[in-house]
Amino acid sequence: MTSYKNQQLPLEKVFRDPVHDYIHVKHPVILDLINTKEVQRLRRVKQLGTTSFTFHGAEHSRFSHSLGVYELTRRICDFFESNFSSAKIGIGGWDDQERLVALCAALLHDVGHGPYSHTFEHIFHTDHEAITREIITSPETEVFQVLNRVEAGFPEKIAQVIAKTYPNPQVVQMISSQIDADRMDYLLRDAYFTGTEYGTFDITRILRVIRPYENGIAFQMNGMHAVEDYIVSRYQMYMQVYFHPVSRGMEVVLDHLLKRAHFLYQTDPDFFLYSAPLLVPFLRGDFTLQDYLTLDDGVLNTAFLQWLKAPDKILQDLAARFLHRRPFKSVMVEQDKDWQNLNQMAQWIEAVGYPLSYYTAINSSYDLPYDFYRPESKSHRTQIELMEPDGSLVELSQVSSLVAALAGQGQKDERFYFPKEMLTKPAQGQLFEEFYHQFQGKIHNGKIIHDKEFTHDDSTSYH
Ligand code: NI
Repeated sequence: MTSYKNQQLPLEKVFRDPVHDYIHVKHPVILDLINTKEVQRLRRVKQLGTTSFTFHGAEHSRFSHSLGVYELTRRICDFFESNFSSAKIGIGGWDDQERLVALCAALLHDVGHGPYSHTFEHIFHTDHEAITREIITSPETEVFQVLNRVEAGFPEKIAQVIAKTYPNPQVVQMISSQIDADRMDYLLRDAYFTGTEYGTFDITRILRVIRPYENGIAFQMNGMHAVEDYIVSRYQMYMQVYFHPVSRGMEVVLDHLLKRAHFLYQTDPDFFLYSAPLLVPFLRGDFTLQDYLTLDDGVLNTAFLQWLKAPDKILQDLAARFLHRRPFKSVMVEQDKDWQNLNQMAQWIEAVGYPLSYYTAINSSYDLPYDFYRPESKSHRTQIELMEPDGSLVELSQVSSLVAALAGQGQKDERFYFPKEMLTKPAQGQLFEEFYHQFQGKIHNGKIIHDKEFTHDDSTSYH
Protein backbone atom coordinates (compact mmCIF):
# COMPACT_ATOMS: atom_id res chain seq x y z
CA MET A 1 0.00 0.00 0.00
CA THR A 2 1.25 3.50 -0.81
CA SER A 3 2.17 5.45 2.31
CA TYR A 4 0.03 8.39 3.39
CA LYS A 5 2.96 10.61 2.39
CA ASN A 6 2.98 9.42 -1.22
CA GLN A 7 -0.74 8.93 -1.80
CA GLN A 8 -2.71 10.95 -4.33
CA LEU A 9 -6.45 11.56 -4.12
CA PRO A 10 -8.30 9.31 -6.60
CA LEU A 11 -9.91 12.46 -7.97
CA GLU A 12 -8.36 15.89 -7.57
CA LYS A 13 -10.40 18.23 -5.38
CA VAL A 14 -10.90 21.87 -6.40
CA PHE A 15 -11.98 24.98 -4.49
CA ARG A 16 -13.34 27.86 -6.55
CA ASP A 17 -11.43 31.03 -5.77
CA PRO A 18 -12.07 34.57 -7.08
CA VAL A 19 -8.35 35.38 -7.24
CA HIS A 20 -6.72 32.18 -8.54
CA ASP A 21 -9.78 30.61 -10.22
CA TYR A 22 -9.29 27.04 -9.06
CA ILE A 23 -7.29 25.88 -6.06
CA HIS A 24 -6.19 22.32 -6.83
CA VAL A 25 -5.78 19.73 -4.10
CA LYS A 26 -4.27 16.41 -5.15
CA HIS A 27 -2.81 15.21 -1.90
CA PRO A 28 -4.90 13.65 0.92
CA VAL A 29 -2.63 15.26 3.54
CA ILE A 30 -3.63 18.73 2.26
CA LEU A 31 -7.32 17.89 2.16
CA ASP A 32 -7.16 16.46 5.69
CA LEU A 33 -5.38 19.60 6.93
CA ILE A 34 -8.01 21.85 5.35
CA ASN A 35 -10.66 19.84 7.22
CA THR A 36 -9.05 20.22 10.65
CA LYS A 37 -10.90 22.39 13.14
CA GLU A 38 -7.87 24.66 13.54
CA VAL A 39 -7.81 25.51 9.82
CA GLN A 40 -11.62 25.79 9.63
CA ARG A 41 -11.47 28.36 12.47
CA LEU A 42 -9.72 30.71 10.01
CA ARG A 43 -13.04 31.10 8.15
CA ARG A 44 -14.22 33.05 11.20
CA VAL A 45 -11.29 35.48 11.27
CA LYS A 46 -11.23 38.37 8.80
CA GLN A 47 -7.94 38.79 6.95
CA LEU A 48 -7.82 42.57 7.26
CA GLY A 49 -9.46 43.33 10.62
CA THR A 50 -10.63 46.94 10.78
CA THR A 51 -9.87 47.65 7.11
CA SER A 52 -13.44 46.58 6.28
CA PHE A 53 -14.68 49.70 8.11
CA THR A 54 -13.08 51.68 5.28
CA PHE A 55 -13.25 49.25 2.35
CA HIS A 56 -16.53 47.44 2.97
CA GLY A 57 -15.71 44.66 0.51
CA ALA A 58 -12.74 43.53 2.57
CA GLU A 59 -14.61 40.84 4.49
CA HIS A 60 -12.45 37.97 3.20
CA SER A 61 -11.10 35.50 5.71
CA ARG A 62 -7.72 34.16 6.73
CA PHE A 63 -9.00 30.83 5.40
CA SER A 64 -9.23 32.06 1.80
CA HIS A 65 -5.78 33.67 2.05
CA SER A 66 -4.31 30.41 3.42
CA LEU A 67 -5.75 28.43 0.49
CA GLY A 68 -4.37 31.08 -1.88
CA VAL A 69 -0.84 30.84 -0.48
CA TYR A 70 -1.07 27.06 -0.75
CA GLU A 71 -2.15 27.31 -4.41
CA LEU A 72 0.65 29.70 -5.41
CA THR A 73 3.18 27.44 -3.69
CA ARG A 74 1.75 24.43 -5.52
CA ARG A 75 2.10 26.22 -8.87
CA ILE A 76 5.69 27.17 -8.08
CA CYS A 77 6.50 23.53 -7.18
CA ASP A 78 4.91 22.32 -10.44
CA PHE A 79 6.89 24.82 -12.48
CA PHE A 80 10.15 23.98 -10.69
CA GLU A 81 9.58 20.26 -11.06
CA SER A 82 8.95 20.49 -14.82
CA ASN A 83 11.76 22.91 -15.60
CA PHE A 84 14.40 22.95 -12.88
CA SER A 85 14.35 19.59 -11.15
CA SER A 86 17.58 18.59 -9.42
CA ALA A 87 17.46 15.39 -11.49
CA LYS A 88 17.68 17.55 -14.60
CA ILE A 89 19.94 20.44 -13.60
CA GLY A 90 21.81 19.07 -10.58
CA ILE A 91 23.04 21.40 -7.83
CA GLY A 92 20.66 24.29 -7.21
CA GLY A 93 17.75 22.43 -8.79
CA TRP A 94 14.43 21.66 -7.12
CA ASP A 95 14.06 18.43 -5.20
CA ASP A 96 10.40 17.48 -5.44
CA GLN A 97 10.70 15.46 -2.20
CA GLU A 98 10.34 18.91 -0.57
CA ARG A 99 6.94 19.57 -2.14
CA LEU A 100 4.80 18.30 0.72
CA VAL A 101 6.78 20.28 3.31
CA ALA A 102 6.36 23.46 1.24
CA LEU A 103 2.63 22.88 0.66
CA CYS A 104 1.84 22.17 4.31
CA ALA A 105 3.85 25.18 5.50
CA ALA A 106 2.07 27.41 2.97
CA LEU A 107 -1.37 26.25 4.06
CA LEU A 108 -0.56 26.57 7.77
CA HIS A 109 1.60 29.71 7.84
CA ASP A 110 -1.17 31.86 9.41
CA VAL A 111 -3.03 29.21 11.44
CA GLY A 112 -2.11 30.98 14.69
CA HIS A 113 -3.77 34.27 13.78
CA GLY A 114 -6.49 35.42 16.14
CA PRO A 115 -9.31 37.95 15.76
CA TYR A 116 -8.11 41.51 15.04
CA SER A 117 -4.67 40.04 15.50
CA HIS A 118 -2.53 43.12 15.66
CA THR A 119 -4.58 44.89 18.34
CA PHE A 120 -5.25 41.73 20.33
CA GLU A 121 -1.51 40.99 20.46
CA HIS A 122 -0.77 44.53 21.56
CA ILE A 123 -3.09 44.31 24.58
CA PHE A 124 -2.77 40.64 25.58
CA HIS A 125 0.86 40.02 24.51
CA THR A 126 0.06 36.97 22.42
CA ASP A 127 2.29 36.11 19.45
CA HIS A 128 0.61 34.60 16.39
CA GLU A 129 3.85 33.20 14.96
CA ALA A 130 4.73 31.36 18.15
CA ILE A 131 1.14 30.09 18.36
CA THR A 132 1.30 28.92 14.73
CA ARG A 133 4.30 26.77 15.60
CA GLU A 134 2.58 25.54 18.74
CA ILE A 135 -0.54 24.47 16.82
CA ILE A 136 1.70 22.58 14.38
CA THR A 137 3.75 20.78 17.04
CA SER A 138 1.26 20.17 19.88
CA PRO A 139 -0.03 16.57 20.02
CA GLU A 140 -3.46 17.85 21.12
CA THR A 141 -4.30 19.53 17.78
CA GLU A 142 -5.88 17.91 14.72
CA VAL A 143 -3.25 19.65 12.59
CA PHE A 144 -0.49 17.83 14.46
CA GLN A 145 -2.30 14.50 14.14
CA VAL A 146 -2.54 14.83 10.35
CA LEU A 147 1.10 15.93 9.98
CA ASN A 148 2.38 13.24 12.30
CA ARG A 149 0.72 10.53 10.19
CA VAL A 150 3.02 11.55 7.33
CA GLU A 151 6.09 10.55 9.32
CA ALA A 152 7.61 11.12 12.72
CA GLY A 153 9.30 14.54 12.89
CA PHE A 154 7.23 15.93 10.02
CA PRO A 155 5.33 18.50 12.19
CA GLU A 156 8.69 19.84 13.41
CA LYS A 157 9.87 20.28 9.80
CA ILE A 158 6.82 22.45 9.05
CA ALA A 159 7.44 24.51 12.20
CA GLN A 160 11.03 25.03 11.04
CA VAL A 161 9.86 26.46 7.73
CA ILE A 162 7.64 28.91 9.63
CA ALA A 163 10.58 29.82 11.91
CA LYS A 164 12.84 30.15 8.80
CA THR A 165 15.30 27.62 10.22
CA TYR A 166 14.49 24.82 7.76
CA PRO A 167 17.73 23.77 6.00
CA ASN A 168 16.42 24.15 2.42
CA PRO A 169 16.41 27.92 1.62
CA GLN A 170 14.24 27.38 -1.48
CA VAL A 171 11.36 26.16 0.69
CA VAL A 172 11.82 28.95 3.26
CA GLN A 173 11.93 31.69 0.60
CA MET A 174 8.84 30.34 -1.16
CA ILE A 175 6.84 31.05 2.01
CA SER A 176 8.77 33.96 3.43
CA SER A 177 11.00 36.48 1.63
CA GLN A 178 10.58 39.87 -0.05
CA ILE A 179 8.66 38.18 -2.85
CA ASP A 180 6.93 35.03 -1.64
CA ALA A 181 3.66 33.15 -2.03
CA ASP A 182 2.29 34.79 1.14
CA ARG A 183 2.77 38.39 -0.02
CA MET A 184 1.82 37.64 -3.60
CA ASP A 185 -1.48 36.17 -2.45
CA TYR A 186 -2.37 38.86 0.07
CA LEU A 187 -1.58 41.75 -2.27
CA LEU A 188 -3.76 40.28 -5.02
CA ARG A 189 -6.52 39.15 -2.65
CA ASP A 190 -6.65 42.37 -0.64
CA ALA A 191 -6.69 44.41 -3.87
CA TYR A 192 -9.55 42.28 -5.19
CA PHE A 193 -11.68 42.48 -2.05
CA THR A 194 -11.03 46.15 -1.27
CA GLY A 195 -11.84 46.95 -4.89
CA THR A 196 -8.58 48.88 -5.36
CA GLU A 197 -6.42 48.37 -8.41
CA TYR A 198 -3.08 49.13 -6.78
CA GLY A 199 -2.24 45.61 -5.69
CA THR A 200 -2.60 43.92 -9.02
CA PHE A 201 0.49 42.75 -10.84
CA ASP A 202 1.27 40.13 -13.42
CA ILE A 203 1.29 36.95 -11.34
CA THR A 204 1.19 34.72 -14.44
CA ARG A 205 4.42 36.24 -15.66
CA ILE A 206 6.09 36.08 -12.23
CA LEU A 207 5.28 32.38 -12.02
CA ARG A 208 7.03 31.87 -15.39
CA VAL A 209 10.25 33.68 -14.49
CA ILE A 210 10.75 32.39 -10.95
CA ARG A 211 13.49 29.78 -10.53
CA PRO A 212 15.39 27.91 -7.86
CA TYR A 213 19.14 28.24 -7.33
CA GLU A 214 21.54 26.95 -4.73
CA ASN A 215 20.82 29.57 -2.05
CA GLY A 216 17.13 30.08 -2.62
CA ILE A 217 14.88 31.58 -5.24
CA ALA A 218 15.69 34.02 -8.06
CA PHE A 219 13.94 35.48 -11.10
CA GLN A 220 15.10 35.42 -14.68
CA MET A 221 16.37 38.74 -15.97
CA ASN A 222 13.70 38.92 -18.68
CA GLY A 223 11.08 39.01 -15.91
CA MET A 224 12.51 42.16 -14.34
CA HIS A 225 9.51 44.37 -15.15
CA ALA A 226 7.01 41.96 -13.63
CA VAL A 227 9.03 41.90 -10.39
CA GLU A 228 9.39 45.69 -10.47
CA ASP A 229 5.62 46.01 -10.87
CA TYR A 230 5.09 43.75 -7.85
CA ILE A 231 7.30 46.06 -5.69
CA VAL A 232 5.39 49.14 -6.82
CA SER A 233 2.06 47.41 -6.12
CA ARG A 234 3.23 46.52 -2.67
CA TYR A 235 4.26 50.11 -2.01
CA GLN A 236 0.90 51.41 -3.21
CA MET A 237 -1.18 48.91 -1.22
CA TYR A 238 0.61 49.90 1.98
CA MET A 239 0.17 53.58 1.36
CA GLN A 240 -3.45 53.43 0.16
CA VAL A 241 -5.00 50.48 1.99
CA TYR A 242 -2.98 49.14 4.92
CA PHE A 243 -2.07 52.61 6.26
CA HIS A 244 -5.57 54.04 5.79
CA PRO A 245 -6.12 56.60 8.59
CA VAL A 246 -9.79 55.67 9.13
CA SER A 247 -9.08 51.94 9.56
CA ARG A 248 -6.38 52.89 12.02
CA GLY A 249 -8.85 55.21 13.78
CA MET A 250 -11.02 52.12 14.34
CA GLU A 251 -7.98 50.13 15.42
CA VAL A 252 -7.23 52.77 18.07
CA VAL A 253 -10.84 52.55 19.35
CA LEU A 254 -10.51 48.75 19.53
CA ASP A 255 -7.14 48.96 21.25
CA HIS A 256 -8.49 51.29 23.92
CA LEU A 257 -11.65 49.23 24.36
CA LEU A 258 -9.65 46.07 25.08
CA LYS A 259 -7.27 48.03 27.28
CA ARG A 260 -10.24 49.31 29.33
CA ALA A 261 -11.61 45.78 29.71
CA HIS A 262 -8.20 44.55 30.81
CA PHE A 263 -8.04 47.32 33.41
CA LEU A 264 -11.59 46.81 34.72
CA TYR A 265 -11.13 43.05 35.05
CA GLN A 266 -8.73 43.68 37.94
CA THR A 267 -11.49 45.20 40.09
CA ASP A 268 -14.67 43.61 38.67
CA PRO A 269 -13.92 40.12 37.30
CA ASP A 270 -17.56 39.00 37.76
CA PHE A 271 -18.82 41.39 35.12
CA PHE A 272 -16.51 39.76 32.57
CA LEU A 273 -17.33 36.22 33.67
CA TYR A 274 -20.85 36.69 32.34
CA SER A 275 -20.36 39.34 29.62
CA ALA A 276 -17.27 37.80 27.97
CA PRO A 277 -16.49 34.36 29.45
CA LEU A 278 -14.28 33.30 26.50
CA LEU A 279 -12.06 36.36 26.98
CA VAL A 280 -11.50 35.80 30.70
CA PRO A 281 -8.33 33.67 30.31
CA PHE A 282 -6.76 36.58 28.36
CA LEU A 283 -8.00 39.27 30.76
CA ARG A 284 -6.60 37.16 33.58
CA GLY A 285 -3.31 36.72 31.70
CA ASP A 286 -3.26 32.94 31.84
CA PHE A 287 -4.51 31.08 28.77
CA THR A 288 -4.07 27.67 27.16
CA LEU A 289 -3.76 26.79 23.48
CA GLN A 290 -7.36 25.55 23.57
CA ASP A 291 -8.52 28.92 24.99
CA TYR A 292 -6.78 30.63 22.11
CA LEU A 293 -8.31 28.32 19.51
CA THR A 294 -11.80 29.25 20.76
CA LEU A 295 -11.27 32.87 19.73
CA ASP A 296 -12.67 34.33 16.53
CA ASP A 297 -14.17 37.65 15.36
CA GLY A 298 -17.60 36.56 16.66
CA VAL A 299 -16.31 36.07 20.20
CA LEU A 300 -14.98 39.63 20.30
CA ASN A 301 -18.00 41.20 18.62
CA THR A 302 -20.39 39.41 20.99
CA ALA A 303 -18.43 40.66 23.99
CA PHE A 304 -18.64 44.21 22.61
CA LEU A 305 -22.43 43.90 22.27
CA GLN A 306 -22.60 42.87 25.94
CA TRP A 307 -20.39 45.78 26.92
CA LEU A 308 -22.91 48.26 25.51
CA LYS A 309 -24.74 47.58 28.79
CA ALA A 310 -21.63 47.85 30.97
CA PRO A 311 -21.80 49.84 34.22
CA ASP A 312 -18.50 51.48 33.25
CA LYS A 313 -19.18 54.47 30.99
CA ILE A 314 -15.84 54.36 29.20
CA LEU A 315 -16.18 50.67 28.31
CA GLN A 316 -19.73 51.29 27.16
CA ASP A 317 -18.78 54.30 25.06
CA LEU A 318 -15.78 52.65 23.39
CA ALA A 319 -17.83 49.52 22.60
CA ALA A 320 -20.47 51.72 20.95
CA ARG A 321 -17.82 53.57 18.94
CA PHE A 322 -16.46 50.29 17.65
CA LEU A 323 -19.76 48.55 16.87
CA HIS A 324 -21.35 51.62 15.30
CA ARG A 325 -18.23 52.65 13.40
CA ARG A 326 -17.24 55.92 14.97
CA PRO A 327 -13.50 56.08 14.35
CA PHE A 328 -11.27 58.54 16.13
CA LYS A 329 -10.23 61.46 13.95
CA SER A 330 -6.54 62.03 13.23
CA VAL A 331 -3.94 64.54 12.16
CA MET A 332 -0.53 63.75 10.77
CA VAL A 333 2.09 64.88 13.20
CA GLU A 334 5.71 65.72 12.53
CA GLN A 335 8.95 65.42 14.49
CA ASP A 336 10.38 68.61 16.01
CA LYS A 337 7.44 70.79 15.08
CA ASP A 338 4.47 72.14 16.96
CA TRP A 339 4.68 69.87 19.93
CA GLN A 340 3.31 72.74 22.01
CA ASN A 341 0.19 72.71 19.86
CA LEU A 342 -0.23 69.01 20.42
CA ASN A 343 0.08 69.53 24.15
CA GLN A 344 -2.51 72.28 23.93
CA MET A 345 -4.93 69.98 22.09
CA ALA A 346 -4.36 67.33 24.73
CA GLN A 347 -5.19 69.80 27.48
CA TRP A 348 -8.49 70.69 25.81
CA ILE A 349 -9.37 67.06 25.33
CA GLU A 350 -8.72 66.46 29.02
CA ALA A 351 -10.67 69.56 30.02
CA VAL A 352 -13.76 68.29 28.21
CA GLY A 353 -13.51 65.14 30.35
CA TYR A 354 -11.88 62.55 28.12
CA PRO A 355 -9.12 60.58 29.87
CA LEU A 356 -6.18 60.85 27.47
CA SER A 357 -5.11 57.24 27.73
CA TYR A 358 -8.50 56.03 26.43
CA TYR A 359 -9.33 58.83 24.00
CA THR A 360 -6.06 59.78 22.30
CA ALA A 361 -3.14 57.94 20.74
CA ILE A 362 -0.08 58.40 18.62
CA ASN A 363 -0.21 55.71 15.95
CA SER A 364 2.62 55.04 13.51
CA SER A 365 2.52 52.88 10.43
CA TYR A 366 5.76 51.82 8.85
CA ASP A 367 6.74 49.73 5.87
CA LEU A 368 9.93 49.17 3.93
CA PRO A 369 8.78 48.37 0.38
CA TYR A 370 12.12 46.92 -0.67
CA ASP A 371 15.63 46.63 0.66
CA PHE A 372 18.83 45.00 -0.50
CA TYR A 373 20.84 42.79 1.82
CA ARG A 374 22.41 44.69 4.70
CA PRO A 375 24.13 42.23 7.02
CA GLU A 376 24.70 44.98 9.58
CA SER A 377 21.00 45.86 9.94
CA LYS A 378 18.92 44.53 12.82
CA SER A 379 16.46 42.46 10.82
CA HIS A 380 18.25 41.91 7.55
CA ARG A 381 16.33 40.38 4.71
CA THR A 382 17.23 38.41 1.63
CA GLN A 383 17.35 40.63 -1.42
CA ILE A 384 15.60 39.90 -4.70
CA GLU A 385 18.04 38.34 -7.19
CA LEU A 386 17.75 38.36 -10.96
CA MET A 387 19.57 35.72 -12.97
CA GLU A 388 21.41 36.56 -16.19
CA PRO A 389 21.38 33.99 -19.00
CA ASP A 390 24.93 32.97 -18.00
CA GLY A 391 23.74 32.10 -14.48
CA SER A 392 25.21 35.12 -12.68
CA LEU A 393 23.03 36.97 -10.17
CA VAL A 394 22.26 40.69 -9.96
CA GLU A 395 20.40 42.38 -7.13
CA LEU A 396 17.12 43.95 -8.33
CA SER A 397 17.79 47.64 -7.52
CA GLN A 398 21.03 47.46 -9.57
CA VAL A 399 19.03 47.09 -12.77
CA SER A 400 15.71 48.75 -11.97
CA SER A 401 15.93 52.49 -11.35
CA LEU A 402 12.28 52.41 -10.24
CA VAL A 403 13.11 49.94 -7.47
CA ALA A 404 16.37 51.80 -6.73
CA ALA A 405 14.25 54.86 -5.90
CA LEU A 406 12.27 52.85 -3.31
CA ALA A 407 15.09 50.68 -1.95
CA GLY A 408 15.87 51.28 1.71
CA GLN A 409 13.23 54.03 1.88
CA GLY A 410 11.02 53.32 4.87
CA GLN A 411 7.52 54.69 4.48
CA LYS A 412 6.16 56.13 7.67
CA ASP A 413 2.82 57.67 8.55
CA GLU A 414 2.48 58.95 12.09
CA ARG A 415 -0.77 60.35 13.46
CA PHE A 416 -2.37 61.80 16.55
CA TYR A 417 -5.86 60.38 17.20
CA PHE A 418 -8.62 62.07 19.19
CA PRO A 419 -12.45 62.03 19.50
CA LYS A 420 -14.05 63.60 16.45
CA GLU A 421 -16.54 65.56 18.60
CA MET A 422 -13.67 67.78 19.75
CA LEU A 423 -14.10 69.65 16.46
CA THR A 424 -17.66 70.66 17.35
CA LYS A 425 -17.49 71.25 21.11
CA PRO A 426 -18.95 74.73 21.70
CA ALA A 427 -16.27 75.90 24.14
CA GLN A 428 -13.12 74.66 22.46
CA GLY A 429 -14.39 73.57 19.06
CA GLN A 430 -13.36 76.59 17.03
CA LEU A 431 -9.93 76.87 18.59
CA PHE A 432 -9.48 73.12 18.34
CA GLU A 433 -10.41 73.16 14.69
CA GLU A 434 -7.87 75.91 13.96
CA PHE A 435 -5.17 73.80 15.53
CA TYR A 436 -6.43 70.78 13.68
CA HIS A 437 -6.02 72.54 10.34
CA GLN A 438 -2.59 73.83 11.29
CA PHE A 439 -1.64 70.27 12.02
CA GLN A 440 -2.70 68.76 8.74
CA GLY A 441 0.50 67.44 7.23
CA LYS A 442 2.71 67.70 10.32
CA ILE A 443 4.22 65.31 12.87
CA HIS A 444 4.75 65.26 16.63
CA ASN A 445 7.80 65.61 18.78
CA GLY A 446 8.80 62.52 20.70
CA LYS A 447 8.74 64.55 23.94
CA ILE A 448 4.99 64.85 23.79
CA ILE A 449 4.47 61.16 24.25
CA HIS A 450 6.26 61.22 27.57
CA ASP A 451 4.79 64.52 28.76
CA LYS A 452 1.21 63.49 28.21
CA GLU A 453 1.43 59.71 28.32
CA PHE A 454 -0.27 59.10 25.03
CA THR A 455 -0.70 55.50 24.03
CA HIS A 456 2.03 54.67 21.58
CA ASP A 457 0.73 52.08 19.23
CA ASP A 458 2.72 51.08 16.16
CA SER A 459 1.00 49.22 13.41
CA THR A 460 3.32 47.82 10.82
CA SER A 461 1.04 45.52 8.89
CA TYR A 462 -1.96 43.27 9.21
CA HIS A 463 -0.22 40.18 7.98
NI1 NI B 1 -0.20 35.28 5.29
